[in-house]
Amino acid sequence: MQDLSEYLNFTKELAFDSGKILLKHFGNISSINKKSTSIDLVTNADIESEALIIDSIQKKFPNHSIIAEESDIKESNSDFKWVIDPLDGTTNFVHNLPIFAVSIGLQYKNKTVLGVVYNPAANKMFFASKKNGAYLNEKNISVSSSNTLSESLIVTGFPYLQDKKWDDSFGIFKDFYSKTQGVRRLGSAALDLCFVAMGRFEVFYEFNLKPWDICAGSIIAEESGAKVTDWDGSKYPSSGKRIIASNGHVHDEALNVIKESNLDFF
Ligand code: IPD
Ligand code: CA
Ligand code: CA
Repeated sequence: MQDLSEYLNFTKELAFDSGKILLKHFGNISSINKKSTSIDLVTNADIESEALIIDSIQKKFPNHSIIAEESDIKESNSDFKWVIDPLDGTTNFVHNLPIFAVSIGLQYKNKTVLGVVYNPAANKMFFASKKNGAYLNEKNISVSSSNTLSESLIVTGFPYLQDKKWDDSFGIFKDFYSKTQGVRRLGSAALDLCFVAMGRFEVFYEFNLKPWDICAGSIIAEESGAKVTDWDGSKYPSSGKRIIASNGHVHDEALNVIKESNLDFF
């Protein structure tokens, strides 16, 4: 695999340009539609941002595969696959809350090799590439040094589908709440992972996410020193089915909270 810097620069520019599209619509959305459930939203900003990203990738790398939230999969026999969330945090976006991001990851032979998460409202560009560390606006970032859950602030999210597992997840939420300094729900999984990467949170956990929610954020977290696994400590599924990212020091303690909940999430 070639030097990643060409890919990384291209991806950062792309995230910046699609972020400009999001800002153009922020506070002034002309179309909001519902997808899988009445709380799963998509706006004209999601669509326009995604169109720009896909178009630019196809122009520069016509053979690469692309999986993006709002479009059909473009599968080819290339070793490269782009994994795109054109707007992570759509519900925040719709409510004029500036916690949203563009998330673009690149996989080579099914392994994520780089990720960019850009929050245009705060002009914060998180990025990482394999074995090169994680950065926020060109400054190296790393996880926090807290050693126990009792001194941790953690973050999670909930899926749109309100089924039995959704119900059960509030049990885990309560268990974490009683063992930490607090649990937040910010509404952008990509940024949640970046906030673990920069030490704002000690842990992020969620289930029923999608590949585009975690692809870029998880390499940024890993490259910052975070431990990222499945809820039983094994390798996390790239599908997004379950993920837990932590500063490493509190990982086992956090896995134990999930284990002790005795709920069937597998
Ligand atoms: C959502 C956000 C949210 C998470 C949801 C995701 P979207 O992505 O990442 O934090 O809890 O499960 O679907 O729909 O805003 O791209
Ligand atoms: Ca998302
Ligand atoms: Ca999205």
